[in-house]
Formats: sequence, structure tokens, C-alpha cells
Amino acid sequence: MSSKNTVKVSVSGENILNLPLLEGTLGPRVIDVRKLYSDHGYFTYDPGFTSTASCESSITFIDGEKGILLHRGYPIQELASQSSFMEVAYLLLHDDLPDLDQLNHFRSEITHHTMLHEQLIYFYRGFRRDAHPMAIMVGIVGALSAFYHDSLDIADPDQQKLAVIRMLAKMPTIAAMAYKYSQGQPFVYPRNDLSYAANFLHMMFSLPVEPYEVSPVMERAMDRIFILHADHEQNASTSTVRLASSSGANPFACIAAGIACLWGPAHGGANEAVLEMLQEIRTPDRIPEFLARAKDKDDPFRLMGFGHRVYKNYDPRASVLRESCYEILEDVGNGSEPLLELALTLEKKALADPYFQEKRLFPNVDFYSGIIFKAMGIPTSMFTVLFAVARTVGWLSQWKEMIEDPKMKIGRPRQLYKGHQKRKFVPVNERNS
Ligand code: ACO
Repeated sequence: MSSKNTVKVSVSGENILNLPLLEGTLGPRVIDVRKLYSDHGYFTYDPGFTSTASCESSITFIDGEKGILLHRGYPIQELASQSSFMEVAYLLLHDDLPDLDQLNHFRSEITHHTMLHEQLIYFYRGFRRDAHPMAIMVGIVGALSAFYHDSLDIADPDQQKLAVIRMLAKMPTIAAMAYKYSQGQPFVYPRNDLSYAANFLHMMFSLPVEPYEVSPVMERAMDRIFILHADHEQNASTSTVRLASSSGANPFACIAAGIACLWGPAHGGANEAVLEMLQEIRTPDRIPEFLARAKDKDDPFRLMGFGHRVYKNYDPRASVLRESCYEILEDVGNGSEPLLELALTLEKKALADPYFQEKRLFPNVDFYSGIIFKAMGIPTSMFTVLFAVARTVGWLSQWKEMIEDPKMKIGRPRQLYKGHQKRKFVPVNERNS
């Protein structure tokens, strides 16, 4: 290997190590440390994976410095404005945009797998009505592995494909049923004549007693939200799905693990936290108080919907959603206009503040999604569930890519051990208190 393709590392002034340097199609070069331990006896230390590429992937590229997000090479803004969620789902799974026949076939496959095994209804009934819908999601999605035995063998490409179709098709049904259950309303079955987004809205909001027309603006906004959340390379929940799957676990169990990870307020739970924060701030005159709290090191409060591990610039998804906010508020409003006004003022003030400028904290995708959900009449506890519905295709694409990779290994990080050295066991009656 030429020295151009290697990195020399000196340890304590000696022991020169030559490590291979890898190049992707875009993004920073990567130092290959795979043989560092076996050849040289060292581990690397990177809690939080701030500088570690955990895998090779061709699905999504992010340049956080410039605020760029590409799926299979296509900019997110173009996908959000010119395509549908079904096209993006196909793209993420298959590497190319579908032609019309491929798209119709894919849509039809998804549409014909949206119903749930009827027995799963009893699982819902086992939950308390006030259970958080994400708790229900983790449970029901995990339980799918107990129902669909013919799509659990990950070594069989037909079963893999069936698992993907089922998971993608059933996720909106599972989510809408979690909502209906929390409301004490009857479950609504899917409709095959509706689009993915419209069908979800139908299952969420229609009642057996009167007709429900899905508003085209709501349908478009929901579809766009699904597109914007569809994948985001190796984020925490996706990495969880990959790690869980690396042991060969079945896809339903792995997606349940991803949902559990997404639930946390530092990840998918942030959109719920943003709305709660805006409701707590209430009026623009209280913004300085909350900004001061966000900057105070002794106060655990953070400005929710601000900051991102990867984006050190405006999250491109947030700009698209900000535009969607105006559209949806014009169509349905639902009394959310003051919240949008408050959010816009908060954004302006935070972006002008030296603390946020120095730390390069910009609005992320969650900053505006909550306002749209609220305007649509979706309760706060369902926000992260919607994120999970959208992200399922990303998890599945990354899962598929991983299990198809002949280099796949079980994920098994190492550690910097800081505990006791070996010591002698003392029987309980001989220990000094
Ligand atoms: N408000 C105030 N200060 C912040 C914020 C914030 N929202 N985010 C980061 N900071 C500060 C930190 O206190 C830290 O300051 P320090 O260097 O003086 O210690 C610095 O900025 C860097 O923050 P880290 O937490 O180290 O950055 P990390 O990359 O680990 O965290 C994260 C990113 C978790 C998203 C963080 O910005 C955050 O908690 N934001 C609020 C929650 C949120 O909106 N999450 C959604 C993320 S997007 C998604 O999951 C779809």
C-alpha cells in the first residue's frame, strides 16, 4: 500500500503504526483501525461514536457542515418537493428511483399487507389506556415476530423481502391503532384506495359513525413529513437496529429495538419535547428567560429542537418543514398559529445569540414538525410514533444493506476498563464492615 493510502501513527514517540486510509465517494477519509488490536495491541476510544464510522453504507450521505442531506445521491429538498414517500421508500430500499410500473407494483405490495393479524388486537387490550403509544409500539412490533413465522429467516431473500413489505405496510396500522386505543375509539381498518399517507390519516381520524374526507393538504404534509424522516444514516436508532440485527435477530425484533431507542428525548422524542417547551414558554416576552436557562451550565434545560450531532448548519429538513408549517396552518390552523409565531421568534433570537452561534446550534427537524402535527390534530404523545412510522423504511434499508453485506460481523465494541484490577474474593463473614 502506498504511503498516500496509509496513516502513520506514532505512540509515545515510537512504535510507528501504518494504518490504511479508506476513501468513500463523499465525506471525510476514514482511518481503518480494524487490525489495530490484532496487529498492534491497541483499542481506539470513541464513546458516542463522534469520529467512528461503524459501517460502510451507500444509502444516505450527510454533510453536516454544509447542511446537505442526500438519499442515494438525491438531495432531500428535491425528493420532498417532487416525489412521494412511496418513491423515496423504494429508492432507499433499491438504490434507484422506480419507474411507473415498479412504483405501482411496490405500492400494490405495500397496500395489500396493511392489515394486522386479528389476534394482535388482544395485545392492545392488554395495555392500560393511558400507556404511552411508544410503549405500545415497542410491544406490538416486537410481537410481530410471534405472528409472522414465514418471514423470520434472514438468510432467505424471499423471507427478507416479505418482512420488509410487511413491516413497512403494517407500521401505520399499528401506530393508528395505538392512537385509537388511547382514545377509547374503535380501531379503523386500512383502505386500499388511499395513498400511504392518506390511509394513515384515515385510520387515525375516521370514525364509523360519519364519513371522513382526507384533506389533500394534510395528505401532502404527512407524506412530506414521512419523506423528511425516512432515513438519516447511522443515527442512534438506526445503529441500534444494525447492532441488534448483527446477531442475526429477526427483523421485527430489531425494528422494535430501533423504536425503543428513538423514544428518547435526545432523539425522536425531541419533537414532543419541543411542543411542550413552546407551550411552557407561552409568550414571546418569556423567550429571553428560556434562552438564559438553555445557556446556564447549572440548569439541565436545553433548547429542544436545537442542535444536532452532525448538522453544524441549518438542518435542511427543518427548512422544508418550516415551509410546510405555513401551508398546513393556512389549511387547518387548529389554533396553532401563535405557536408558529412563537417558534419563529425563538428561532430568530437563538440564531442571533452568541452562545448558539459559537456552538453552531441550529434548528433541527424536530423544531417544526411538532407544530405541524399539532395543527393536524395529532396529540403530542403520538409525535414520536409518527417519526417511527416514517423511519421504519430507513431502518429496513439499513438492515437489508447490512445482512446482504458479506463482510457483516456481529457488532461487539471494546472498552477502556477503569474498574478494579484482579483481587482476591473474601467470604462474607470475613469482610470488614
Ligand atoms: N440547548 C442548549 N445548549 C445545547 C443544546 C441545546 N439544544 N444542544 C447542545 N448544546 C450545547 C451543550 O451544552 C454543549 O455545550 P458545552 O460544549 O459547553 O458542554 C455543546 O452545545 C455540544 O452539545 P453536545 O450535547 O455535546 O452535542 P451532541 O452532539 O452530543 O448532542 C443533541 C446533540 C443531543 C441533539 C443536542 O444538541 C441536544 O440535546 N439537543 C436538544 C434535543 C434535540 O433537539 N434533539 C433532536 C436531535 S435531531 C433528531 O434526533 C432527529
